[in-house]
Amino acid sequence: MRLGPLIASTALVAGAILVWPASPASAAPTRFEAESSPATCTGTIDSNWAGFSGSGFCNGTNAVGAGAQFTVNASTSGTATLGVRFANGTTTARPAGLIVNGSTVQTPSFEGTGAWSTWATKTLSVSVNAGSNTIRLNPTTSNGLPNVDYLDFEVGGSPQPQPPPGWPTPTGQVTVNGTISVSGVLDGGMRRYCCIGDGGQEEDQDPMFELASGATLQNVIVGAPAGDGVHCSGPCTLRNVWWEDVGEDAATFRGSGSPQFLVDGGGARSASDKVFQHNGAGTLTIQNVQASNFGTFYRSCGNCSTQTQRNVVIRNVTLTRPGNRVAGININYGDTARFSGITIVNDPNRSMVICQKYIGNDDGDEPDEAGSGADGTNCLYSSSDITYR
Ligand code: GCU
Ligand code: CA
Repeated sequence: MRLGPLIASTALVAGAILVWPASPASAAPTRFEAESSPATCTGTIDSNWAGFSGSGFCNGTNAVGAGAQFTVNASTSGTATLGVRFANGTTTARPAGLIVNGSTVQTPSFEGTGAWSTWATKTLSVSVNAGSNTIRLNPTTSNGLPNVDYLDFEVGGSPQPQPPPGWPTPTGQVTVNGTISVSGVLDGGMRRYCCIGDGGQEEDQDPMFELASGATLQNVIVGAPAGDGVHCSGPCTLRNVWWEDVGEDAATFRGSGSPQFLVDGGGARSASDKVFQHNGAGTLTIQNVQASNFGTFYRSCGNCSTQTQRNVVIRNVTLTRPGNRVAGININYGDTARFSGITIVNDPNRSMVICQKYIGNDDGDEPDEAGSGADGTNCLYSSSDITYR
């Protein structure tokens, strides 16, 4: 559906004005940030990985017993729900004793979240006493704890539904009434922006965010339907942006000259076609991103009316099948795609194509395929750049 210009500009002014808290359910949990008293951290309080809440997170010393400890107050005795928000940028799970009032009651393990800037919440249930309780996460291996952002504590609360591993939990919700224009920086504070469009794959849907040249969009969860996602009209940065269900495309990059586009952190689920669509010129770098269930992760436009050489750098990404192709590029326009640190999950037969070559055109026809695989010219990688899990 296309909005007329008058309606579109009204909607734009009205975009994103209503904010409400994330869990209107019964009694909200109390949040204890790991970086501030009464919590203690055997390690350092850091803030170098985006996406944390409060002013930082506990980076525990990588050692057995280097724990994070919280002192919480329970209004009654009973079963409490704990939500531990953490990030583990390694691929090795980090186990810990969960010690309540001095006794180890469980040994949860904090799996890799894909990146240090990718935060997940683990929900645990424990018995607590009325009044003050200490809750300690005590690592049992020399890798120490994951980075710990906070503990949510609620007596009698029912566990919240869990997003897939590595996916952030929204901190709140922002109602979107029309395309949101961004110039400068829009920091969503990890709230979910919802929604626009009808969830279809039609071309020419309105985007949820329209970024001016030089703009940055960060710490945003794009809810579904997302319309045509994010549009950049020139160089832009998308940092820690998460698409819960990609509609048409997650993001489209436009602009002439030699714009540099950066996608750093974040993730995308359920793109029946493309995740990142490169229609303008320049170089797109995509790093520290995860995607699952998509057609093509990156595509240099195969049949745009203005064609030019495009370059993409894809590094440190985790791609989970179903997924057909990592990148599709046009060799007749001299495109390049450079890959490193690519992890492909759920692909025992190695059927995901890393680099599909096409002969692009500018008259709107479906482009012809022209082979695939590393060639040292357009498709740049070696087998050590790709890991299967
Ligand atoms: C890196 C990362 C830290 C993390 C550490 C670890 O140094 O920057 O935030 O705590 O790894 O392995 O524990
Ligand atoms: Ca650490």
